[in-house]
Amino acid sequence: MNVGTTIIKSRHSVRKYKPDQIEESAIRDALECACQAPSAMNLQPWLFGVVRDRALLGKIAELTDHGKFIAGAAVCFIVFGEKKAKYYLEDCCAATENLILGLWAYGVGSCWVAGDKKPYADDIRKLLSVPDRYTLVSLVPAGYPAEVTVQKKKSLDDVTFIETYSEN
Ligand SMILES: Cc1cc2nc3c(=O)[nH]c(=O)nc-3n(C[C@H](O)[C@H](O)[C@H](O)COP(=O)(O)O)c2cc1C
Repeated sequence: MNVGTTIIKSRHSVRKYKPDQIEESAIRDALECACQAPSAMNLQPWLFGVVRDRALLGKIAELTDHGKFIAGAAVCFIVFGEKKAKYYLEDCCAATENLILGLWAYGVGSCWVAGDKKPYADDIRKLLSVPDRYTLVSLVPAGYPAEVTVQKKKSLDDVTFIETYSEN
């Protein structure tokens, strides 16, 4: 374990937030972490919205099915991908995780909320006046944690194989 792996392993989804605002420098640093993600052919086909306006947060929350808690977040990052890039989904998922970890490094909790494949994806794009060449990939509501839920993870032995796979 080192500082980097401790941050990664201690991350949990946070869906209840304190009302405190997050320092601008932390937001900027986390966004820079997102931009540091790998992307196919280094196309970086992402676009990040930063929403703090309470009315807008409420509207976004209302449009989602499993993201109603967005209304209580200090900020919500909205990750869009440029559709013409073949691997925009993989690229923007990598960026989303980097963003989440970058926030967690400042003690800011967040939760990945589904965007891609959701019927509300286009409604959220239009709500934020984002051009049609982009599509919603993920939403990341964030804030200082008021409550953290810890999910059990599969054991390493159950999800790894060395050299070649065997059933036992
Ligand atoms: C692609 C994706 C979509 C998700 N969508 C939602 C969602 O819509 N609402 C939600 O509350 N959590 C959502 N999550 C968070 C997962 O529920 C959470 O990561 C999982 O339960 C494991 O918990 P942990 O993040 O604390 O390890 C999503 C996660 C991923 C990767």
